[in-house]
Amino acid sequence: MAEISENKITLKAPDDFHIHLRQAPGLAEYARLTAEAGFARAMVMPNTLPPVTEPAGMAAYKEEIQNAAGPGFTPLMTFKLMPGMTAAQVRALADAGAVAGKYYPAGATTNSSDGLTHWELCADAMGEMERLGMVFSIHGEDPAGPALQREQLFLPRFREMAAAFPELKMVFEHISSAEGTEMVRELPDNVAATVTIHHLLLTQEDILGGALAPHLFCRPLPKSDRDRRAIQDFVLTGSPKVFFGSDSAPHLKEKKECASGAAGIFTSPVALPLLIDFFEEKGRLDLLEAFVSEKGAAFYGLEENTCTVSFVKESWTVPAEYAGVVPFMAEKKLNWRPACVGA
Ligand code: DOR
Ligand code: ZN
Repeated sequence: MAEISENKITLKAPDDFHIHLRQAPGLAEYARLTAEAGFARAMVMPNTLPPVTEPAGMAAYKEEIQNAAGPGFTPLMTFKLMPGMTAAQVRALADAGAVAGKYYPAGATTNSSDGLTHWELCADAMGEMERLGMVFSIHGEDPAGPALQREQLFLPRFREMAAAFPELKMVFEHISSAEGTEMVRELPDNVAATVTIHHLLLTQEDILGGALAPHLFCRPLPKSDRDRRAIQDFVLTGSPKVFFGSDSAPHLKEKKECASGAAGIFTSPVALPLLIDFFEEKGRLDLLEAFVSEKGAAFYGLEENTCTVSFVKESWTVPAEYAGVVPFMAEKKLNWRPACVGA
């Protein structure tokens, strides 16, 4: 049970159910910063080069992350669903400890050109995931659509999958539209969504409305104020169908400030202080612990973390860069900082 006072908040240690930790040489720094930010676990996306698709590669990737982050942090591993993936391949990955398989529409985002053009191409794998109770994690965008409509245009595909696999645990990742939010709310309880801190706080205006803000460019794009309000309202219902996944996605500064800028916002170091602000401003700090530390674990069928983490109300300035990456809220003052991790 969270302890909340005016200047200190102690929570069951949070989980991040959607993170990109990349590969060496950046990996060690990103993994360490995630643990230092107060996360006890994070579910690591498989869109590396080459992607995580088989048990040996997944185990090696896990070990690399574990070594960098230290013993207080547990990486939760995922694999990328590939065209033609078989039930036997899924079973082997489940036996090796994968908690989810990630579906990327081909070309939808970073390192997804080898993704799926039609969900039917991984139907065998989806059936096995349904049977095993494994989570099917989805980047829900149709890359053929206009940039701000891609999520909405993907919703019919999502509904087809949900109808074809009625028991499959499905997570609509980084939900970004009012329509997507409505769909997840209306579908049965085996369908949930993750919400990022940037989709809770930003709209398209923050990226495009003034000077172009490359460090806020991400996929799916933050949309209108109506969409942002729908996401906030969903979170503020306290529904078990919505929990935190940062989609923290570090790219080096030069990959963002250039003629062909990469999509992704590095939020790990600031996500929890900003979430505290968000719930505090809404007068709903009572919902914080469930959002970051309980509902995701429950959906994934994992035990909650037993350690705790405290945050103190103490102003700090976000660094301009972490290891060559410009973080979300760079050089801005935040109100809360992690204090100590206790047993
Ligand atoms: O903005 C994004 N960046 N969205 C994604 O879906 C992927 C991520 C990345 O890997 O850079
Ligand atoms: Zn992602």
